[in-house]
Amino acid sequence: MYLTVKLIHQTTAVLTISGFMLRGWWMIRESPLLQHRLTRTLPHINDTVFLLAGIMLAVMLRQYPFSHAWLTAKVLGLLAYIVLGSLALKRAPRKSVRIGCFLLALLTFSWVVSVALTRSSSGFAQFLTG
Ligand code: HEM
Repeated sequence: MYLTVKLIHQTTAVLTISGFMLRGWWMIRESPLLQHRLTRTLPHINDTVFLLAGIMLAVMLRQYPFSHAWLTAKVLGLLAYIVLGSLALKRAPRKSVRIGCFLLALLTFSWVVSVALTRSSSGFAQFLTG
């Protein structure tokens, strides 16, 4: 059961970031596909499954955000990724800012993956601090 849910969480994580990269590319190319109905609905479905699977894993592990530092880091990282992603794909007024937010969102997502892999709240940032 745990491994199945973990596989769902991992698979939907790959789909989330692949879809985000595609939409980022469409944003840079100013493609009308960015406004397509499926582009605006499919990510929500995937992201809901992704988050639910993450929550189920935490419950099965009996480790929770705001009591276990690595899960706190994941939730805060996820929030930062959502804000940056929303600025990148629609809310930021200038294209240069949208591209900057897009790159920062990719960096944030990679950091959250490194937090997941190491189960450490600093993730790959620990290599910067030594
Ligand atoms: C951007 C957000 C997130 C990303 C990119 C992400 C990514 C991942 C990845 C790649 C794994 C598999 C790690 C491995 O193979 O050992 C994982 C595991 C896990 N994730 Fe997430 N996750 C995110 C958000 C969350 C959230 C919000 C929660 C719960 C509140 C969560 C809870 C967990 C748990 C409990 C595991 C199991 C770790 C293990 O068994 O070692 N994740 N996550």
